Amino acid sequence: MVERETWATRVGFLVAAIGSAVGLGNLWQFPFKTAANGGAAFVAFYLIAVVLIGFPAMLAEFVVGRRTNVNAVDAFAELGHRRWRVVGGLAVATGFWILSYYNVVGGWVLRYILGSATGAYFDAPGEYFGAVSAGPEAVLAQALFLGIVVAIVALGIENGIEKATKVMVPSIVVIMVVLAGWAATLGGAGEGYAYFLSPSLDAMIDNARTAIPFAVGQAFFTLSLGMAIMITYSSYVGEDDSLPFDGGVIVVTNTLVGILAGLVVFPILFANDIDLALTGGGGASALFVAVAAGFAELPLGRWLGAVFFAVVLIAALSSAISLMEVTVSWAVDNFDVSRPMLAVTVGLGLFVLGLPSAWDTAWLTWFDNLAYSLFLPVSVLAVVIFVGWVIGRDAVDELRRGTGGLGSLGPLWLWTLRLVVVVGVVATLYFGITELFFQNDPTGVPPLIAGALSP
Ligand code: PHE
Repeated sequence: MVERETWATRVGFLVAAIGSAVGLGNLWQFPFKTAANGGAAFVAFYLIAVVLIGFPAMLAEFVVGRRTNVNAVDAFAELGHRRWRVVGGLAVATGFWILSYYNVVGGWVLRYILGSATGAYFDAPGEYFGAVSAGPEAVLAQALFLGIVVAIVALGIENGIEKATKVMVPSIVVIMVVLAGWAATLGGAGEGYAYFLSPSLDAMIDNARTAIPFAVGQAFFTLSLGMAIMITYSSYVGEDDSLPFDGGVIVVTNTLVGILAGLVVFPILFANDIDLALTGGGGASALFVAVAAGFAELPLGRWLGAVFFAVVLIAALSSAISLMEVTVSWAVDNFDVSRPMLAVTVGLGLFVLGLPSAWDTAWLTWFDNLAYSLFLPVSVLAVVIFVGWVIGRDAVDELRRGTGGLGSLGPLWLWTLRLVVVVGVVATLYFGITELFFQNDPTGVPPLIAGALSP
Protein backbone atom coordinates (compact mmCIF):
# COMPACT_ATOMS: atom_id res chain seq x y z
CA MET A 1 0.00 0.00 0.00
CA VAL A 2 1.17 3.52 -0.74
CA GLU A 3 1.88 5.73 2.22
CA ARG A 4 -1.18 7.79 3.14
CA GLU A 5 -0.91 11.49 2.44
CA THR A 6 -0.78 14.20 5.11
CA TRP A 7 -0.96 17.97 5.14
CA ALA A 8 2.50 19.40 4.51
CA THR A 9 2.00 22.07 7.15
CA ARG A 10 -0.28 22.76 10.06
CA VAL A 11 -1.49 25.89 8.34
CA GLY A 12 -2.41 23.68 5.41
CA PHE A 13 -5.00 21.87 7.47
CA LEU A 14 -6.28 25.13 8.91
CA VAL A 15 -6.78 26.94 5.62
CA ALA A 16 -8.35 23.89 4.01
CA ALA A 17 -10.84 23.58 6.86
CA ILE A 18 -11.57 27.30 6.82
CA GLY A 19 -12.05 27.10 3.08
CA SER A 20 -14.58 24.36 3.65
CA ALA A 21 -16.45 26.25 6.32
CA VAL A 22 -16.56 29.54 4.46
CA GLY A 23 -19.03 28.97 1.66
CA LEU A 24 -22.37 29.99 0.30
CA GLY A 25 -23.93 29.60 3.75
CA ASN A 26 -21.86 32.55 4.98
CA LEU A 27 -22.50 34.71 1.97
CA TRP A 28 -26.12 34.28 1.04
CA GLN A 29 -27.77 33.00 4.18
CA PHE A 30 -26.08 34.38 7.26
CA PRO A 31 -26.31 38.13 6.53
CA PHE A 32 -29.89 38.00 5.33
CA LYS A 33 -31.18 35.73 8.07
CA THR A 34 -29.49 37.98 10.58
CA ALA A 35 -31.18 41.06 9.18
CA ALA A 36 -34.57 39.36 9.10
CA ASN A 37 -34.43 37.87 12.57
CA GLY A 38 -33.30 40.57 14.93
CA GLY A 39 -29.81 41.69 13.82
CA ALA A 40 -27.30 41.58 16.64
CA ALA A 41 -29.82 39.70 18.81
CA PHE A 42 -29.81 36.91 16.23
CA VAL A 43 -26.02 37.02 15.98
CA ALA A 44 -25.80 36.56 19.75
CA PHE A 45 -28.09 33.57 19.57
CA TYR A 46 -26.24 32.14 16.61
CA LEU A 47 -22.94 32.49 18.46
CA ILE A 48 -24.38 30.58 21.39
CA ALA A 49 -25.46 27.82 19.01
CA VAL A 50 -22.01 27.76 17.43
CA VAL A 51 -20.15 27.67 20.74
CA LEU A 52 -22.39 25.18 22.54
CA ILE A 53 -23.33 22.92 19.65
CA GLY A 54 -21.30 23.51 16.49
CA PHE A 55 -17.85 23.77 18.06
CA PRO A 56 -18.12 20.66 20.31
CA ALA A 57 -19.58 18.68 17.40
CA MET A 58 -16.71 19.77 15.18
CA LEU A 59 -14.19 18.55 17.76
CA ALA A 60 -16.03 15.22 17.78
CA GLU A 61 -15.44 14.85 14.04
CA PHE A 62 -11.80 15.90 14.44
CA VAL A 63 -11.23 13.26 17.09
CA VAL A 64 -12.54 10.46 14.88
CA GLY A 65 -10.38 11.52 11.94
CA ARG A 66 -7.09 12.19 13.71
CA ARG A 67 -7.37 9.10 15.91
CA THR A 68 -7.70 6.74 12.96
CA ASN A 69 -6.06 8.36 9.93
CA VAL A 70 -8.43 6.66 7.54
CA ASN A 71 -11.49 7.67 5.55
CA ALA A 72 -14.73 8.50 7.31
CA VAL A 73 -16.34 5.09 6.80
CA ASP A 74 -13.47 2.84 7.85
CA ALA A 75 -12.62 5.15 10.76
CA PHE A 76 -15.47 3.63 12.74
CA ALA A 77 -14.15 0.10 12.22
CA GLU A 78 -10.67 1.28 13.09
CA LEU A 79 -12.04 2.45 16.44
CA GLY A 80 -13.29 -1.07 17.06
CA HIS A 81 -16.94 -0.63 16.14
CA ARG A 82 -17.47 -2.14 12.74
CA ARG A 83 -21.22 -1.77 12.82
CA TRP A 84 -20.93 1.97 13.26
CA ARG A 85 -19.43 2.19 9.79
CA VAL A 86 -22.99 2.75 8.70
CA VAL A 87 -22.80 6.13 10.43
CA GLY A 88 -19.74 7.02 8.42
CA GLY A 89 -21.52 5.78 5.33
CA LEU A 90 -24.48 8.01 6.07
CA ALA A 91 -22.24 11.04 6.49
CA VAL A 92 -20.43 10.32 3.23
CA ALA A 93 -23.72 9.79 1.41
CA THR A 94 -25.15 13.01 2.86
CA GLY A 95 -22.13 14.89 1.61
CA PHE A 96 -22.35 13.35 -1.84
CA TRP A 97 -26.03 14.29 -2.01
CA ILE A 98 -25.35 17.89 -0.97
CA LEU A 99 -22.41 18.30 -3.34
CA SER A 100 -24.56 17.19 -6.27
CA TYR A 101 -26.57 20.41 -6.14
CA TYR A 102 -23.85 22.61 -4.64
CA ASN A 103 -22.03 22.13 -7.95
CA VAL A 104 -25.06 23.44 -9.79
CA VAL A 105 -25.00 26.60 -7.72
CA GLY A 106 -21.26 26.83 -8.35
CA GLY A 107 -22.11 26.85 -12.04
CA TRP A 108 -24.46 29.80 -11.58
CA VAL A 109 -21.69 31.71 -9.84
CA LEU A 110 -19.41 31.11 -12.82
CA ARG A 111 -22.08 32.54 -15.07
CA TYR A 112 -22.44 35.59 -12.87
CA ILE A 113 -18.77 36.48 -13.10
CA LEU A 114 -19.18 36.58 -16.84
CA GLY A 115 -22.60 38.22 -16.60
CA SER A 116 -21.14 41.00 -14.47
CA ALA A 117 -18.17 41.64 -16.73
CA THR A 118 -20.42 41.93 -19.78
CA GLY A 119 -23.31 43.61 -18.00
CA ALA A 120 -25.58 40.81 -19.20
CA TYR A 121 -27.92 40.94 -16.20
CA PHE A 122 -27.93 44.71 -15.79
CA ASP A 123 -31.26 45.35 -17.50
CA ALA A 124 -33.29 42.59 -15.89
CA PRO A 125 -31.55 40.74 -13.05
CA GLY A 126 -34.61 38.65 -12.16
CA GLU A 127 -35.11 37.37 -15.70
CA TYR A 128 -31.41 36.73 -16.14
CA PHE A 129 -31.34 34.58 -13.02
CA GLY A 130 -34.35 32.61 -14.25
CA ALA A 131 -32.60 32.00 -17.57
CA VAL A 132 -29.21 30.86 -16.28
CA SER A 133 -30.36 28.86 -13.25
CA ALA A 134 -32.07 26.02 -15.09
CA GLY A 135 -31.93 23.98 -18.27
CA PRO A 136 -29.07 23.15 -20.63
CA GLU A 137 -27.00 26.23 -19.79
CA ALA A 138 -27.10 25.36 -16.11
CA VAL A 139 -26.00 21.81 -16.90
CA LEU A 140 -23.03 23.13 -18.85
CA ALA A 141 -22.04 25.53 -16.09
CA GLN A 142 -22.38 22.74 -13.53
CA ALA A 143 -20.01 20.59 -15.58
CA LEU A 144 -17.46 23.41 -15.77
CA PHE A 145 -17.52 24.03 -12.03
CA LEU A 146 -17.27 20.33 -11.34
CA GLY A 147 -14.32 20.08 -13.73
CA ILE A 148 -12.34 22.59 -11.65
CA VAL A 149 -13.19 20.75 -8.43
CA VAL A 150 -12.14 17.39 -9.89
CA ALA A 151 -8.88 18.83 -11.18
CA ILE A 152 -7.86 20.15 -7.75
CA VAL A 153 -8.90 17.02 -5.84
CA ALA A 154 -7.12 14.81 -8.39
CA LEU A 155 -3.82 16.50 -7.49
CA GLY A 156 -4.08 15.23 -3.93
CA ILE A 157 -3.93 16.64 -0.42
CA GLU A 158 -0.62 18.42 -0.46
CA ASN A 159 -0.28 19.37 -4.10
CA GLY A 160 -3.95 19.97 -4.81
CA ILE A 161 -6.12 20.93 -1.87
CA GLU A 162 -3.46 22.43 0.37
CA LYS A 163 -1.80 24.50 -2.35
CA ALA A 164 -5.11 25.71 -3.72
CA THR A 165 -6.71 26.68 -0.44
CA LYS A 166 -3.55 28.45 0.75
CA VAL A 167 -4.18 30.93 -2.04
CA MET A 168 -7.97 30.87 -1.97
CA VAL A 169 -8.70 31.50 1.69
CA PRO A 170 -6.46 34.54 2.15
CA SER A 171 -7.88 35.93 -1.11
CA ILE A 172 -11.41 35.61 0.19
CA VAL A 173 -10.58 37.46 3.38
CA VAL A 174 -8.51 40.20 1.74
CA ILE A 175 -10.97 40.91 -1.06
CA MET A 176 -13.92 40.92 1.34
CA VAL A 177 -12.15 43.40 3.61
CA VAL A 178 -11.39 45.64 0.64
CA LEU A 179 -14.97 45.39 -0.62
CA ALA A 180 -16.32 46.16 2.85
CA GLY A 181 -14.04 49.21 3.00
CA TRP A 182 -15.30 50.39 -0.36
CA ALA A 183 -18.94 49.69 0.61
CA ALA A 184 -18.48 51.86 3.70
CA THR A 185 -18.02 54.85 1.42
CA LEU A 186 -21.37 54.35 -0.29
CA GLY A 187 -24.27 56.66 0.52
CA GLY A 188 -26.43 53.95 2.03
CA ALA A 189 -23.80 52.43 4.30
CA GLY A 190 -25.21 53.65 7.62
CA GLU A 191 -28.74 52.54 6.80
CA GLY A 192 -27.40 49.23 5.54
CA TYR A 193 -25.53 48.53 8.75
CA ALA A 194 -28.57 49.46 10.82
CA TYR A 195 -30.76 47.11 8.81
CA PHE A 196 -28.20 44.33 9.16
CA LEU A 197 -27.25 44.56 12.81
CA SER A 198 -29.50 46.78 14.90
CA PRO A 199 -30.65 44.44 17.65
CA SER A 200 -34.32 43.59 17.93
CA LEU A 201 -35.28 41.07 20.52
CA ASP A 202 -38.88 41.31 19.32
CA ALA A 203 -38.02 40.21 15.79
CA MET A 204 -35.99 37.35 17.20
CA ILE A 205 -38.86 36.23 19.44
CA ASP A 206 -41.53 36.69 16.78
CA ASN A 207 -39.62 34.47 14.39
CA ALA A 208 -38.37 32.02 17.00
CA ARG A 209 -40.05 29.02 15.41
CA THR A 210 -38.02 29.34 12.26
CA ALA A 211 -35.08 31.43 13.45
CA ILE A 212 -33.96 29.07 16.21
CA PRO A 213 -33.87 25.86 14.18
CA PHE A 214 -32.23 27.83 11.40
CA ALA A 215 -29.52 29.12 13.73
CA VAL A 216 -28.76 25.62 15.00
CA GLY A 217 -28.94 24.05 11.54
CA GLN A 218 -26.70 26.77 10.19
CA ALA A 219 -24.23 26.09 12.98
CA PHE A 220 -23.68 22.60 11.49
CA PHE A 221 -23.92 23.56 7.88
CA THR A 222 -21.58 26.51 8.05
CA LEU A 223 -18.98 24.49 9.95
CA SER A 224 -19.28 21.73 7.34
CA LEU A 225 -20.44 19.14 9.88
CA GLY A 226 -22.48 16.02 9.24
CA MET A 227 -20.92 15.44 5.83
CA ALA A 228 -17.76 13.70 7.05
CA ILE A 229 -15.64 16.62 5.84
CA MET A 230 -14.00 17.38 9.16
CA ILE A 231 -13.44 13.67 9.82
CA THR A 232 -11.71 13.36 6.47
CA TYR A 233 -9.62 16.53 6.70
CA SER A 234 -8.46 15.74 10.24
CA SER A 235 -7.46 12.23 9.16
CA TYR A 236 -4.55 13.85 7.32
CA VAL A 237 -3.38 15.73 10.42
CA GLY A 238 -0.20 14.96 12.37
CA GLU A 239 -0.46 14.32 16.08
CA ASP A 240 1.14 17.40 17.46
CA ASP A 241 -1.71 19.78 16.65
CA SER A 242 -4.11 21.15 19.17
CA LEU A 243 -7.55 20.35 17.83
CA PRO A 244 -9.42 22.79 20.10
CA PHE A 245 -7.13 25.61 19.01
CA ASP A 246 -7.58 24.79 15.33
CA GLY A 247 -11.33 24.51 15.83
CA GLY A 248 -11.38 27.92 17.50
CA VAL A 249 -9.54 29.56 14.61
CA ILE A 250 -11.94 27.98 12.13
CA VAL A 251 -15.07 29.05 14.03
CA VAL A 252 -13.89 32.63 14.52
CA THR A 253 -12.76 33.13 10.92
CA ASN A 254 -15.94 31.59 9.59
CA THR A 255 -18.12 33.91 11.65
CA LEU A 256 -16.10 36.97 10.71
CA VAL A 257 -16.50 36.24 7.01
CA GLY A 258 -20.27 36.03 7.48
CA ILE A 259 -20.29 39.42 9.17
CA LEU A 260 -17.99 40.88 6.50
CA ALA A 261 -20.42 39.66 3.86
CA GLY A 262 -23.18 41.65 5.55
CA LEU A 263 -20.97 44.74 5.63
CA VAL A 264 -20.54 44.40 1.88
CA VAL A 265 -24.03 43.56 0.68
CA PHE A 266 -26.28 45.85 2.73
CA PRO A 267 -24.59 49.15 1.82
CA ILE A 268 -24.86 48.08 -1.83
CA LEU A 269 -28.58 47.38 -1.47
CA PHE A 270 -29.33 50.61 0.42
CA ALA A 271 -27.14 52.85 -1.73
CA ASN A 272 -29.14 51.81 -4.77
CA ASP A 273 -32.61 51.65 -3.26
CA ILE A 274 -33.00 48.00 -4.08
CA ASP A 275 -36.31 46.49 -3.05
CA LEU A 276 -35.45 44.36 -0.02
CA ALA A 277 -38.20 41.89 -0.89
CA LEU A 278 -35.92 40.76 -3.74
CA THR A 279 -33.54 39.25 -1.20
CA GLY A 280 -36.17 36.72 -0.23
CA GLY A 281 -34.68 36.85 3.29
CA GLY A 282 -31.65 34.85 2.14
CA GLY A 283 -30.83 32.30 -0.54
CA ALA A 284 -29.96 32.52 -4.19
CA SER A 285 -32.18 35.48 -5.02
CA ALA A 286 -30.44 37.53 -2.33
CA LEU A 287 -27.17 37.49 -4.26
CA PHE A 288 -28.18 36.75 -7.80
CA VAL A 289 -31.12 39.11 -7.99
CA ALA A 290 -30.97 41.72 -5.22
CA VAL A 291 -27.23 42.31 -4.90
CA ALA A 292 -26.82 41.89 -8.65
CA ALA A 293 -29.42 44.62 -9.16
CA GLY A 294 -27.24 46.82 -6.94
CA PHE A 295 -24.18 46.32 -9.15
CA ALA A 296 -26.25 47.21 -12.18
CA GLU A 297 -26.79 50.68 -10.69
CA LEU A 298 -23.23 51.39 -9.64
CA PRO A 299 -20.53 53.20 -11.56
CA LEU A 300 -17.90 50.53 -12.30
CA GLY A 301 -20.61 48.01 -11.50
CA ARG A 302 -19.26 45.55 -14.06
CA TRP A 303 -15.88 45.38 -12.41
CA LEU A 304 -17.19 45.37 -8.88
CA GLY A 305 -19.74 42.71 -9.72
CA ALA A 306 -17.14 40.49 -11.35
CA VAL A 307 -14.83 40.81 -8.35
CA PHE A 308 -17.65 40.14 -5.90
CA PHE A 309 -18.84 37.03 -7.71
CA ALA A 310 -15.24 35.87 -8.05
CA VAL A 311 -15.06 35.84 -4.26
CA VAL A 312 -18.31 33.90 -4.13
CA LEU A 313 -16.79 31.44 -6.60
CA ILE A 314 -13.63 30.95 -4.56
CA ALA A 315 -15.69 30.37 -1.42
CA ALA A 316 -17.91 27.85 -3.19
CA LEU A 317 -14.93 26.06 -4.76
CA SER A 318 -13.02 25.62 -1.53
CA SER A 319 -16.15 24.14 0.05
CA ALA A 320 -16.90 21.85 -2.88
CA ILE A 321 -13.30 20.58 -2.87
CA SER A 322 -13.61 19.54 0.76
CA LEU A 323 -16.80 17.69 0.08
CA MET A 324 -15.47 15.86 -2.95
CA GLU A 325 -12.40 14.81 -0.97
CA VAL A 326 -14.67 12.89 1.42
CA THR A 327 -15.76 10.38 -1.21
CA VAL A 328 -12.44 10.35 -3.02
CA SER A 329 -10.62 9.67 0.25
CA TRP A 330 -12.86 6.70 0.90
CA ALA A 331 -12.30 5.43 -2.62
CA VAL A 332 -8.51 5.90 -2.45
CA ASP A 333 -8.37 3.85 0.75
CA ASN A 334 -10.53 1.08 -0.69
CA PHE A 335 -9.71 0.65 -4.35
CA ASP A 336 -6.45 0.01 -6.07
CA VAL A 337 -7.02 2.75 -8.63
CA SER A 338 -5.17 6.04 -9.03
CA ARG A 339 -6.51 9.14 -7.30
CA PRO A 340 -7.06 11.06 -10.55
CA MET A 341 -9.12 8.20 -11.97
CA LEU A 342 -11.18 8.02 -8.81
CA ALA A 343 -11.70 11.78 -8.75
CA VAL A 344 -13.00 11.70 -12.32
CA THR A 345 -15.31 8.79 -11.53
CA VAL A 346 -16.71 10.48 -8.46
CA GLY A 347 -17.13 13.63 -10.53
CA LEU A 348 -19.17 11.78 -13.11
CA GLY A 349 -21.41 10.34 -10.42
CA LEU A 350 -21.96 13.79 -8.96
CA PHE A 351 -22.72 15.21 -12.37
CA VAL A 352 -25.46 12.67 -12.96
CA LEU A 353 -27.00 13.09 -9.51
CA GLY A 354 -26.91 16.86 -10.02
CA LEU A 355 -28.76 16.78 -13.33
CA PRO A 356 -32.28 17.16 -11.90
CA SER A 357 -31.15 20.15 -9.81
CA ALA A 358 -29.50 21.75 -12.81
CA TRP A 359 -32.55 21.18 -14.93
CA ASP A 360 -35.10 22.69 -12.59
CA THR A 361 -34.57 24.67 -9.41
CA ALA A 362 -37.59 22.97 -7.82
CA TRP A 363 -35.48 19.81 -7.68
CA LEU A 364 -32.60 21.69 -6.19
CA THR A 365 -34.89 23.00 -3.49
CA TRP A 366 -36.20 19.52 -2.79
CA PHE A 367 -32.69 18.05 -2.57
CA ASP A 368 -31.65 20.87 -0.29
CA ASN A 369 -34.63 20.64 2.03
CA LEU A 370 -34.23 16.93 2.50
CA ALA A 371 -30.52 17.29 3.23
CA TYR A 372 -30.83 20.25 5.54
CA SER A 373 -33.83 19.13 7.56
CA LEU A 374 -33.23 15.42 7.65
CA PHE A 375 -29.93 13.90 6.48
CA LEU A 376 -27.66 16.52 8.01
CA PRO A 377 -29.07 16.54 11.56
CA VAL A 378 -29.42 12.73 11.62
CA SER A 379 -25.83 12.37 10.53
CA VAL A 380 -24.52 14.91 13.07
CA LEU A 381 -26.54 13.21 15.80
CA ALA A 382 -25.20 9.77 15.01
CA VAL A 383 -21.57 10.91 15.04
CA VAL A 384 -22.06 12.84 18.26
CA ILE A 385 -23.69 9.87 20.00
CA PHE A 386 -20.87 7.66 18.83
CA VAL A 387 -18.12 9.94 20.05
CA GLY A 388 -19.89 11.03 23.24
CA TRP A 389 -21.46 7.80 24.41
CA VAL A 390 -19.69 4.96 22.61
CA ILE A 391 -16.01 5.90 22.65
CA GLY A 392 -16.35 8.56 25.39
CA ARG A 393 -13.12 8.52 27.41
CA ASP A 394 -10.95 7.55 24.44
CA ALA A 395 -12.29 10.57 22.63
CA VAL A 396 -11.22 12.81 25.49
CA ASP A 397 -7.74 11.24 25.44
CA GLU A 398 -7.47 11.94 21.74
CA LEU A 399 -8.63 15.51 22.18
CA ARG A 400 -5.97 16.04 24.85
CA ARG A 401 -3.15 14.95 22.55
CA GLY A 402 -1.07 17.92 21.50
CA THR A 403 -2.78 20.35 23.87
CA GLY A 404 -0.81 20.07 27.07
CA GLY A 405 -3.70 18.58 28.97
CA LEU A 406 -6.91 20.61 28.82
CA GLY A 407 -7.62 19.84 32.49
CA SER A 408 -11.30 19.74 33.30
CA LEU A 409 -12.15 21.11 29.86
CA GLY A 410 -11.87 17.54 28.54
CA PRO A 411 -14.78 16.13 30.55
CA LEU A 412 -16.66 19.38 30.10
CA TRP A 413 -16.45 18.90 26.34
CA LEU A 414 -17.57 15.29 26.67
CA TRP A 415 -20.64 16.16 28.73
CA THR A 416 -21.52 19.06 26.47
CA LEU A 417 -21.42 16.61 23.60
CA ARG A 418 -23.43 13.97 25.44
CA LEU A 419 -26.15 16.30 26.64
CA VAL A 420 -26.27 19.79 25.14
CA VAL A 421 -25.37 18.84 21.60
CA VAL A 422 -27.61 15.78 21.57
CA VAL A 423 -30.61 17.75 22.86
CA GLY A 424 -29.92 20.64 20.47
CA VAL A 425 -29.70 18.35 17.46
CA VAL A 426 -32.78 16.34 18.41
CA ALA A 427 -34.76 19.57 18.74
CA THR A 428 -33.57 20.78 15.34
CA LEU A 429 -34.45 17.47 13.83
CA TYR A 430 -37.92 17.63 15.33
CA PHE A 431 -38.53 21.11 13.90
CA GLY A 432 -37.03 20.11 10.58
CA ILE A 433 -39.16 17.02 10.20
CA THR A 434 -42.41 18.72 11.16
CA GLU A 435 -41.60 21.47 8.70
CA LEU A 436 -40.66 19.00 5.99
CA PHE A 437 -43.51 16.54 6.28
CA PHE A 438 -46.36 18.19 8.11
CA GLN A 439 -46.32 21.88 7.21
CA ASN A 440 -46.14 20.86 3.62
CA ASP A 441 -48.85 22.03 1.31
CA PRO A 442 -50.90 19.27 -0.29
CA THR A 443 -49.49 19.82 -3.76
CA GLY A 444 -46.33 18.12 -2.59
CA VAL A 445 -44.16 21.13 -3.26
CA PRO A 446 -41.58 21.19 -0.49
CA PRO A 447 -41.60 24.26 1.77
CA LEU A 448 -39.05 26.82 0.72
CA ILE A 449 -37.69 28.01 3.98
CA ALA A 450 -36.10 24.88 5.34
CA GLY A 451 -33.04 24.40 3.18
CA ALA A 452 -29.70 26.09 3.41
CA LEU A 453 -29.28 26.84 -0.25
CA SER A 454 -32.86 27.05 -1.45
CA PRO A 455 -33.18 29.61 -4.19
N1 PHE B 1 -19.74 25.37 5.12
C1 PHE B 1 -20.26 25.34 3.80
C2 PHE B 1 -21.05 26.59 3.50
O1 PHE B 1 -21.26 27.41 4.37
C3 PHE B 1 -21.12 24.15 3.70
C4 PHE B 1 -20.66 23.24 2.64
C5 PHE B 1 -19.41 22.67 2.67
C6 PHE B 1 -21.45 22.97 1.59
C7 PHE B 1 -19.00 21.89 1.66
C8 PHE B 1 -21.06 22.18 0.57
C9 PHE B 1 -19.80 21.67 0.60
O2 PHE B 1 -21.45 26.81 2.39
